[in-house]
Amino acid sequence: MTSSSLLPAFLQAVMQGQPRALKDPHYPGWHLAPVTGLMNDPNGFIHFQGEYHLFYQWNPLGCSHQNKSWGHWRSQDLVHWQHAPIALIPGEDYDRSGCYSGSAVDNQGQLTLCYTGNVKFDDGSRTAWQCLAVENAQGGFDKTGPVLALPEGYTGHVRDPKVWRQGETWYMVLGAQDKQKQGKVLLFHSGNLTDWTLAGEIAGSGLGGLGEAGYMWECPDLFHLDGQDVLIACPQGVTKQEKRFLNTYPVTWLCGTLQADGATFHHGPLAELDAGFEFYAPQTALAEDGRRLLIGWMGVPDGEEMLQPTVKNGWIHQMTCPRQLSLKQGRLFQQPVTELQMLRETESGWQGLASQAPEIPAERLEILLTRPPGKSATLHFGNDDLVLTWSDCELCLARRSLENGEWQYRYWDAPATGLQILCDHSSIEIFINQGEGVMSSRYFPAQPATLSFSGEAELQVRYWSLRACM
Ligand code: FRU
Repeated sequence: MTSSSLLPAFLQAVMQGQPRALKDPHYPGWHLAPVTGLMNDPNGFIHFQGEYHLFYQWNPLGCSHQNKSWGHWRSQDLVHWQHAPIALIPGEDYDRSGCYSGSAVDNQGQLTLCYTGNVKFDDGSRTAWQCLAVENAQGGFDKTGPVLALPEGYTGHVRDPKVWRQGETWYMVLGAQDKQKQGKVLLFHSGNLTDWTLAGEIAGSGLGGLGEAGYMWECPDLFHLDGQDVLIACPQGVTKQEKRFLNTYPVTWLCGTLQADGATFHHGPLAELDAGFEFYAPQTALAEDGRRLLIGWMGVPDGEEMLQPTVKNGWIHQMTCPRQLSLKQGRLFQQPVTELQMLRETESGWQGLASQAPEIPAERLEILLTRPPGKSATLHFGNDDLVLTWSDCELCLARRSLENGEWQYRYWDAPATGLQILCDHSSIEIFINQGEGVMSSRYFPAQPATLSFSGEAELQVRYWSLRACM
């Protein structure tokens, strides 16, 4: 167990905060969320000795981005999760301003966490250490200290180690900012997890034909999928386009080939991973059966997050559902894992003109829709808290700003033939064309939401209400 001086305050915050959070009608029924305080990135996602582990960035003491610690859940099936003891709490010299994001590995049967120790100085500058911690017999984690200091040529913004092993060699990607304020992804290798050598910059601003692509890249994740190498990362400072990269910070993917020497990554164009309002810092893990799984944070830093109404109930943010990744014709697909089907209750169906469709309870809902080309349809969630317009050339998701009530829009800028939509008490995940695109968003309906339809499209609909399991 960690000996941090913050622990008593954390325990008290959980005891006091949890009943309030769980009573909030916006608290998810089947998604992961903090029992109190602020949760952001998923960390340390791994299948280890027969169980999934998911850690998360957590401030139990409030809804601000402070005291970043690692909460910990475990699961047999990706659907039902149990709390495990809090894994990391800041307090050492090398992590005193936060145990920032990272990953988990199986090191000869020992569950080992790789995280960033963040250190902020009074003059506003910072440094970062890449650190390890090892699971102990009580299910807690013992910190073993830093293994990597700031590499030469980079600012204090170097973080979020994603570590994996290939044969006898360990690899690590890190998000970084160079001294010219260009965002980069760095690749390192090691024979023992503790001595690391920089192989090079494998992606980022000014590399691989990307041109200007932001001042900092966070939370990189590099993996082999369906014969290619895929790099997911969160570049900050990418220019907004008319219908893409509209969030404060986007999540992007690159697909290509990592050279055997590890220092060059030949890749295609930068593509957005999720076109919704809230999606950031996703992390992947390999399932026992070889599936590549992904969970993301259904939030975005530095936007309107603190205006979300759950803050007054002492908690904020949730994870996405677990998704399975695949690569088809060079495009990255995401689909909800099949395990989630165990939440389905009785199936219902309907076919006909959208404008004549019955209203459906949408509190916890999975709905599959198809629409032939021609007329459009509009889906109204809640009291028009969220409006999805589906026409031949695009999908447009509209929601009012929490700040000034003005409508804001997000787009899937291509034809959509079929949709799979998953709703929880305050979230929606729209999977487009079997997962070719996804739009993830939070929304906060006043009452348990319903879904109604308008438009002249002929819709075919199958749906299930979903059992709560949190
Ligand atoms: C991404 C991020 C990471 C950092 C963590 C701190 O949301 O900024 O880069 O490690 O959050 O909570």
